[in-house]
Amino acid sequence: MARHGDFRFGLLSLLFLSFFGVAFVPARAAVKTYQFDVQVKNVSRLCHAKPIVTVNGMYPGPTIYAREGDRVIVNVTNHAQYNMSIHWHGLKQFRNGWADGPAYITQCPIKTGNSYTYDFNITGQRGTLWWHAHIFWLRATVYGAIVIMPQNGTSFPFPQPHMEANIILGEWWNTDVEELVKEGDKLGLPPKMSDAHTINGKPGPLFPCSEKHTYALEVEQGKTYLLRIINAALNDELFFAIAGHEMTVVEIDSVYTKPFATQALLIGPGQTTNVLVRAYQLPGRYFMAARPFMDVPIPIDNKTVTAILQYKGIPNTVMPVLPQLPAPSDTEFALNYIAKLKSLNTPQFPALVPLKVDRRLFFTIGLGRNPCSTCQNGTKLAASLNNVTFVMPKVALLQSHYFNIKGVFQTDFPERPPTPFNYTGAPLTANLKTSSGTRLTKIAYNSTVEIILQDTNLLTVESHPFHLHGYNFFVVGTGLGNFNSSKDPANFNLVDPPERNTVGVPTGGWTAIRFRADNPGVWFLHCHLELHTSWGLKTALVVEDGKGVDQSVLPPPKDLPPC
Ligand code: C2O
Repeated sequence: MARHGDFRFGLLSLLFLSFFGVAFVPARAAVKTYQFDVQVKNVSRLCHAKPIVTVNGMYPGPTIYAREGDRVIVNVTNHAQYNMSIHWHGLKQFRNGWADGPAYITQCPIKTGNSYTYDFNITGQRGTLWWHAHIFWLRATVYGAIVIMPQNGTSFPFPQPHMEANIILGEWWNTDVEELVKEGDKLGLPPKMSDAHTINGKPGPLFPCSEKHTYALEVEQGKTYLLRIINAALNDELFFAIAGHEMTVVEIDSVYTKPFATQALLIGPGQTTNVLVRAYQLPGRYFMAARPFMDVPIPIDNKTVTAILQYKGIPNTVMPVLPQLPAPSDTEFALNYIAKLKSLNTPQFPALVPLKVDRRLFFTIGLGRNPCSTCQNGTKLAASLNNVTFVMPKVALLQSHYFNIKGVFQTDFPERPPTPFNYTGAPLTANLKTSSGTRLTKIAYNSTVEIILQDTNLLTVESHPFHLHGYNFFVVGTGLGNFNSSKDPANFNLVDPPERNTVGVPTGGWTAIRFRADNPGVWFLHCHLELHTSWGLKTALVVEDGKGVDQSVLPPPKDLPPC
């Protein structure tokens, strides 16, 4: 049947391709090979030129194209002055944390002049993900898309679009980001906020010197387009909309959703959203735009980035129309939008939500203030989970776990906050000292885990996009205020909750996630706001090996960077 036709097509293309001398790899287990040269390049935006770290001189970097089931081999050669590593955000890296990439968690950084080959299979995932540098704030310019097409012989569970495009949202600083971070650290304060947001590396014509730095997507009237939207910004959750055009959400974080139409969407750092857009308007030029969502009085780069949806044949002289974005503090829009996200949950793409929980964890998210003799006010801002500010180790955690190296980390991370309090009551501004340590949580192989992520009002409430490496999880519940363990679970969605790798914990609220710990290794769990990650809002889970043959961490590759 379908397979047969597929096979014939394979044979035909084999003949066709070999005729033209192109290497042919059988469709079912293709190997996609990439060379990533990390190199510094001068780039100019907003009338400011500066050297930035890039992959292959591109900003954003190259897109990785693969199919579900493929093996991907990326050789990364580091020519930049920073030791660095790259993370393949959202790829599960089954038993293969060695290819995950967060520096000092699963590997030591690739030193200047050295190479490391990330070698991984894409199993059971299709859709949009992305990659980024995972050390310091280098991901400000070192990022790109990962496009995973459905397995051969399968198609999208929605109408085939005429064409597709990546829309990567980012942040631009006019000056050197690593220098700004250093200055901030010295003062114990956040570094200066970004100067612009970008779409595919371009801020759009509302910024100075940016006419030529405007992304435009040409469309034909009546045709439907698939936009793969990625939030690669460091610190901003963003609203995104297209003037005059509804979007139909069909996938988040490489998991299909029940389709729904919306005028605008909300996307947090680390998240991806695929939408279908039909070009049904009068031919013209329509702005696509993004601007932050921030519902507490925290200063933020609130400028609007634009790109253009340009109908074929329309001259560039026509003024585009701006979309109506939700107001920056529109909590209601944000919560309503999030409530619409549901897994597709069909026989082909089931939502395998753990119904029974073996391990319950309750993590509070807090800001804090620690003594710092060299800092401006004698204190520096910090962040913590269950009052633990994570201290980065000097040897990678996965290595220490695999080779049983003692003294690198402890597995005594608190299962709940040391002293319970009214988490989301009045702001708490005294006793803000946090404890510190490289403390992890040990999880039994194949156990089902529930983590409640609870925001707190230590200094201020704020929404936090939380990311877990090595897994997708189900977002079974979310709410405002304090999580109530006797009432709230009754309202959990255990049927078709959204499945993703990064979830927003609402401002002054909580989020409940569940997953089955079937991927052994050491997996980073952190806030994807770079500011908070660098302040210590992170920890890791050590998922133990199972007893079966395919249930343990694979041996490390020979070229794993030494510490
Ligand atoms: Cu996209 Cu640990 O990060």
